[in-house]
Amino acid sequence: MRIAVVGIRGHGRSHLAAVKDWPKATSVVGCDLDAGVRAQVGAEFGVETCADVDALIRDRRPDAIIVATPPSVHATIVRVAIAAGIPVLVEKPICTDLAEAEELVELARARPVGFQCAFQLRYSGYVAVIDDLIARGELGTVTHAGLVQLSGPATEPGYMARSRVGGIFYEKLCHQVDLFRHFLGEPQRIMAVAAPNSLTQYEIADNVHAVLAFPGGRLGTIRFETRRSFQVDGTVSPERIIEGPEAGHFYELVVTGDRGTAVYDPWQKRIDIVRFNHRRDHRSELVRRIDLNHVAGADPYDLRAQDHDFLDRVTSGRSPRFPAADALASMQWVDRAERSLREHGAWIS
Ligand SMILES: NC(=O)c1ccc[n+]([C@@H]2O[C@H](COP(=O)([O-])OP(=O)(O)OC[C@H]3O[C@@H](n4cnc5c(N)ncnc54)[C@H](O)[C@@H]3O)[C@@H](O)[C@H]2O)c1
Repeated sequence: MRIAVVGIRGHGRSHLAAVKDWPKATSVVGCDLDAGVRAQVGAEFGVETCADVDALIRDRRPDAIIVATPPSVHATIVRVAIAAGIPVLVEKPICTDLAEAEELVELARARPVGFQCAFQLRYSGYVAVIDDLIARGELGTVTHAGLVQLSGPATEPGYMARSRVGGIFYEKLCHQVDLFRHFLGEPQRIMAVAAPNSLTQYEIADNVHAVLAFPGGRLGTIRFETRRSFQVDGTVSPERIIEGPEAGHFYELVVTGDRGTAVYDPWQKRIDIVRFNHRRDHRSELVRRIDLNHVAGADPYDLRAQDHDFLDRVTSGRSPRFPAADALASMQWVDRAERSLREHGAWIS
């Protein structure tokens, strides 16, 4: 299997590492417009590189392509791959325009060619643990999934430009929208509001509250705030970058049912199952603590399981486990969330 990764500066490097680990890879090529990136990353991973996607497809004819360029470039590259009949795994979001995402999914269906969007949390060990808790009835009937994330990525000027990433739901919160669909099924409507930005170099919202309403009154809620005060003046000083509770940051994903709540803490690498005890002392009790250090693939950014599954399926001629057509449903809610932001919290169905 000849595999190409297009866009190898940032996240593409993690894909290169995952692909190089895959036993059936006979050759791996990194494609990037930037000569400096090609030289540095090519040497680091010991892979050949090239600059141009059309030449990549014409001259090397890869069996599968992974796209990790900026989101605004996804559609162009995915379209070329699909036209050549080459299975493609594209980083999230599918692209920055919903109509174009719909068109790409239709092109892949018609050809047909394998097309998947990289929502790697679907493969994550901690999601599998929560799935198992739900399946065994430990949480009861699930009524709420919620994210509170009070931290933000260190970004360089221009990285969070709207024209590059599409918007905060396209860029970042698409993961949560997709995860909430995974836990709760299809939403009925969504609303999102944003406070004024705290980070000057974000063109997109950086302080967002959102609610997804599901049938039966069930809810998905998101509170997302960047809290990198050192970035307020637009400067990034690497030695001051600290992410974690010690920097006042916070990250918690909860899935609540009528029998208990699963609380996922990625920094402590654990899931607590807590229950509010009405009868005893009106306090939450810790029912069980699951240590994720011993759970395979529990790192939310581990791409290995996703990339290997995608490539295994390409080799055996099977369709992707999570086809882009399903990711498109998440992108449709992402797009409605962006619309609600523009309409100052209007509910969008
Ligand atoms: N799934 C996740 O958790 C996760 C995390 C981080 C980033 N991402 C996604 O990964 C993608 C890349 O993000 P990043 O932070 O690595 O970006 P980046 O800017 O660090 O790297 C993108 C690279 O693509 C190259 N590039 C741009 N246009 C190109 C073209 N036409 N042909 C070839 N190369 C081209 C650039 O030169 C650059 O080296 C984005 O879609 C982003 O949303 C996903």
